[in-house]
Amino acid sequence: MSRTIYITTPLYYVNAQPHIGHLYTTALADTVKRFHMMMGDHVYFLTGTDEHGEKIVKAAQKAGVDTQEFVDQVAGVFKGTWKQIDFTNDDFIRTTEPRHKEFVQKILKQVHDSGDIYFDQYTGLYCVDCERYMTVTELVDGKCPDHEVEPVEVKESNYFFRMGKYQQQLIDHIEKNPEWIRPKRFKNEVLSFLKQPLEDLCISRPKTRLEWGIDLPFDDKYVTYVWFDALLNYVSALKKNAAGDDVFDRYWKECNHFIAKDILKTHAIYWPTMLMAAGIPLPKQLDVHGYWLSGESKMSKSLGNVVRPLVFDEQFGIENLRYFFFREMKFGKDAGFTYELFVERYNSDLANGLGNLLSRTASIVKKNLGGKVPEQQDTTDAERPLIAMAKKLLETYPQNFDDRSFHVAVEDIRSLMAAADRYINEMAPWKLARDDERKKDLARVLYTALEIVRISAVLLSPIMPKKCVQILAYLGETRPLDGSVPFEELAGWGGLKSGHEFGDVPRLFPRIDEKKLKEVLESVEASRGVEEKAGSDDLEPIRDEITIDDFSRVDLRVGIIREGHLVEGSKKLIRLMVDLGEEKPRQIFAGIKSHYAQPQDLVGTKVIVVANLKPRKMKFGISEGLVLAGGGGGDSRLCVAEFDGDLEPGDTVT
Ligand code: MSP
Repeated sequence: MSRTIYITTPLYYVNAQPHIGHLYTTALADTVKRFHMMMGDHVYFLTGTDEHGEKIVKAAQKAGVDTQEFVDQVAGVFKGTWKQIDFTNDDFIRTTEPRHKEFVQKILKQVHDSGDIYFDQYTGLYCVDCERYMTVTELVDGKCPDHEVEPVEVKESNYFFRMGKYQQQLIDHIEKNPEWIRPKRFKNEVLSFLKQPLEDLCISRPKTRLEWGIDLPFDDKYVTYVWFDALLNYVSALKKNAAGDDVFDRYWKECNHFIAKDILKTHAIYWPTMLMAAGIPLPKQLDVHGYWLSGESKMSKSLGNVVRPLVFDEQFGIENLRYFFFREMKFGKDAGFTYELFVERYNSDLANGLGNLLSRTASIVKKNLGGKVPEQQDTTDAERPLIAMAKKLLETYPQNFDDRSFHVAVEDIRSLMAAADRYINEMAPWKLARDDERKKDLARVLYTALEIVRISAVLLSPIMPKKCVQILAYLGETRPLDGSVPFEELAGWGGLKSGHEFGDVPRLFPRIDEKKLKEVLESVEASRGVEEKAGSDDLEPIRDEITIDDFSRVDLRVGIIREGHLVEGSKKLIRLMVDLGEEKPRQIFAGIKSHYAQPQDLVGTKVIVVANLKPRKMKFGISEGLVLAGGGGGDSRLCVAEFDGDLEPGDTVT
């Protein structure tokens, strides 16, 4: 019976360009959609971008672009990349769209009216990269384990969602629906987190600190941002889809979220409790995958080890990467990506495996059977095990997809192809071809081998859609893969039609040699260098606003440098004696040696000194202030700010 399914990916932050982490989850949703289509199910697939919050504003500042312009540009890159890859998403939602903002405000008002949002003061540790508060127990060595940065302490008055109120209801739901979070260990992780009392959730930011969010409908001095904003996209996009229709009733109860483990808590705790408060039923399923690692670390922009989807497409082809994704990652576990491993898997499974199986059989057909697909013959004991293997896949393949055991589904197809390869070697059709008496045997062997290629291509088509359609077309299999032909017929034994004439044998999976791999590795290295350099030339973002009162706490004075010395054993520091009109000059260490290798040249220079900076004990002595210096891109360009006017030591600077 045909099912209806609603599939979502996370909404990706637009502070970074798409990388293969984003690509994986989107390819996963796309593959699952194509699989269901082939099964005759009806699928609605949503993806999009998350565009509010502090780190987006910072990224825009860093790029020196207006925030709206910046988010438009990066959202465009995501949308364009997915289009170029041919993802089948039915909608692409951006959190800055009016349809989304209106819905968020409606829910905020409703939850506020019902008393589940309140105003309070709070102090907490905030990780800007996660855009959420963290508990001390979540930190590793005082740092966010995902982003390897220390969270900042934030103290302000804000609005809070009574998340704690729904703790028991959530626990009950998870226990009653043991399959709700998959794989199981993520369910266990959430339940064990829920053993501690669940704190309420801060959902606002004062506009004085952050304007780039959605206005709270009950207080225009505040915005909501990130989680109370972004999570609601899964519903707002259905309430008003790209065509302006309300398709909520049709899809919501069949919702299946795909996420990685980084956003497990927000999806398994924040989201369902928000829905409970809003009186909306919970999604049907949460499927959680692991990370793609590069070496030991997660691939992400902040860690600077990313692979760009379209660049990869030019290098090796995106569909081959999709194959690698599903072959290599056990759903729920981390997996490693390296170019070397990708090439190894590609060469063994696709070039030597599928590609070779097709080309070696097609070549014999062309040479000996007039290039036409032979008639199906009566089976003998030789092919029975192969046929049984192929028939078994009709059950195990959909089951593995439903269980998210994609790597097992791929492994089964690989085993089928390997068995076909062994069969060909044993039957030696090139020998049969030399014996006129054995034409029927030759036809039987080649039909069997080609049918295995056809079935494999049908089964791999959700993963490598274009390549598989090419293989199928070559074999004369042009029936649509969209569910209009029942799966059992499409992937069932004997679907290959005889008489179809082959064209030239296609080279769909040419072997990747060492030279090509080396070239790509070199270009990756070179572009990494360029990205790093570009990073160091970027302007530092302007920091958060301060008031004039904040500024007036800094006591700036004119100082005259009376002595300048090198500091033995220090690469960066020089030691200055600076006269501030006090009883005796102050000793100040400044990290500007690379620009002032002869510190005595600074004697007589009038500089600006932070006079009320708490003295700091350094390895070489106490530093009693700070001399202002300017420059970007490291220490090499740091120059002191100097006055050339008629000023006295100790004069104030305002
Ligand atoms: N904006 C939030 C999500 C809001 S959902 C309402 C966010 N964005 S993100 O850009 O950081 O995307 C995180 C998601 O990207 C992960 O959950 C995962 O789907 C994907 N991945 C990013 N890096 C990844 C890996 N290295 N490996 C696997 N998936 C990765 O969080």
